[in-house]
Amino acid sequence: RGPDTYSPTGQETGVPQEKVAQGGEYLTTAQGARLYETDHSLKAGPRGPVLLQDHHLREKITHFDHERIPERVVHARGAAAHGIFQGYGTAGQITKAAFLGKDVETPVFVRFSTVLGSRGSADTVRDTRGFATKFYTDEGVFDLVGNNIPVFFIQDAIKFPDVIHAGKPHPDREIPQAQSAHDTFWDFVTLHTEATHHTLWNMSDRGIPRSYRMMEGFGVHTFRFVNAEGATTLVKFHWKPKLGVHSLVWEEAQITAGVDPDFHRRDLADAIEAGAYPQWELGVQTFPDTDDQLFEGIDLLDPTKIVPEELAPVQPIGLLTLNANPSNYFAETEQVAFHLGHLVPGIDVTNDPLFQGRLFSYLDTQISRLGGPNFAQLPINRTHAPVNDMLRDGMHQTAVHRGAAPYRPNSLDGGCPFLAGEDTGAYIEVPEPVHADRKVRDAAASFDDHYSQPRLFWLSMTPTEREHIVAAYTFELSKCWETSIKERALRVLANIDPELCGEVATGLGLPAPEPTVKLAEPDPSPALSQLGATWPLD
Ligand code: HEM
Repeated sequence: RGPDTYSPTGQETGVPQEKVAQGGEYLTTAQGARLYETDHSLKAGPRGPVLLQDHHLREKITHFDHERIPERVVHARGAAAHGIFQGYGTAGQITKAAFLGKDVETPVFVRFSTVLGSRGSADTVRDTRGFATKFYTDEGVFDLVGNNIPVFFIQDAIKFPDVIHAGKPHPDREIPQAQSAHDTFWDFVTLHTEATHHTLWNMSDRGIPRSYRMMEGFGVHTFRFVNAEGATTLVKFHWKPKLGVHSLVWEEAQITAGVDPDFHRRDLADAIEAGAYPQWELGVQTFPDTDDQLFEGIDLLDPTKIVPEELAPVQPIGLLTLNANPSNYFAETEQVAFHLGHLVPGIDVTNDPLFQGRLFSYLDTQISRLGGPNFAQLPINRTHAPVNDMLRDGMHQTAVHRGAAPYRPNSLDGGCPFLAGEDTGAYIEVPEPVHADRKVRDAAASFDDHYSQPRLFWLSMTPTEREHIVAAYTFELSKCWETSIKERALRVLANIDPELCGEVATGLGLPAPEPTVKLAEPDPSPALSQLGATWPLD
């Protein structure tokens, strides 16, 4: 388990040479016994019954029968590439994470994905895109598991099964575009109005990217940086594509889904093969780590909110270059396992309830998806740092552990005593105070505003972008069967903007309702006018 058996270039899977299949001159069984043929089973006479003793037949068929593993419960369809991340050293004052140091180069593996479709679904559907990066740093693996949309549908992970069940194909016909699936999705996002912001981004051109190479990426949650002195800063991660942000239009997306369902994965692989390596700059917005964790009135623990870049500019901290395609889709793209809990010293979590739930979910799902607890030993998941973990045995264990005493401290093999109080480069959690006088399930009152940021987004759009948004809502809502759901969706839109609501209502042939919240004027306050003018970035 170490860098010596692993190549980050993508030209090899990292498996030691002697284990590479199809490597030798002769065909063999899995046990290495040489075969003289593989096209006919062993029979009692040329037309006789097949004999149970034919080990090669049984091995070949049995292995084939077990070739598939469960696809990811979400983000099942993806494409990935290897690359290099180069730190700029600009974050050195606020984090001790060594891989962000000046000119430090770290191998990475990045997987892009759609969320709702199954492994064989089309690339250009309207959906959020995953943007997950595994940094193989010298201090251990750091995973940044983000999306191409900066906010999420829900504020608390306990609703994740619900939002996904509402969006996935309905159980009776398993047809993603069935009327029933539209009803459940729109039912959910109009009853849980915290989903309004993410839904609006999905209905905008951001929901149908032109290419994975032309997407932004966002860590979504607020993270905590810790510097060498222990001082903390809150940050939000952003990936900015060097090629700019580009989208398809809806007709292109639909036609492409039929003509070339592999459009995005082909585009990524072709570009890399041709030497047109896609690049993203990694940046952070930074905020003081105050007791209330609010910034300009925005709750930094609410994942349905952005912080406009006019209020907190994105400061570049490194450069990502994707320069090699995987050599085996299954071994790399399918078996890679990202996890928000894979952190390195200098980067810590916050109390965002969505973030906290994700910290549980990924390891849990990977134990079943990847067949037990030892998937960290798979070549694509191996850290490049030395491992001494005291984890033993279990399904698909490939390590041969030595030593008599897998516990610390011990008096038998003398291994690695803890050095209390000394900085050994260990990961140390920030000792954040916990303010609580009771248990609650309620969300904070600062999570209540579901409309003012969607309104900012709408107001920042150009006329053409607005046309696309109106067309997307009208098209998608027209697929709902239940008129009551369409009417509820219009009530949500009325709280974003009367023009948006009116145009969609006309398209649906329904009356436009009045807003139920007080709409912010385009420029009632200096902060709003500042945002409405230029936000978002492009
Ligand atoms: C997978 C992003 C919220 C559970 C993924 C992947 C991405 C992602 C990019 C694909 C990883 C890959 O390529 O292998 C996000 C973002 C979220 C979010 C940005 C919100 C900010 C959640 C929540 C849960 C969740 C709240 C559960 C409570 C999962 C699971 C997988 C997954 C189970 C499949 C992992 C696997 O099978 O390896 N997510 N997700 N996600 N996500 Fe999330």
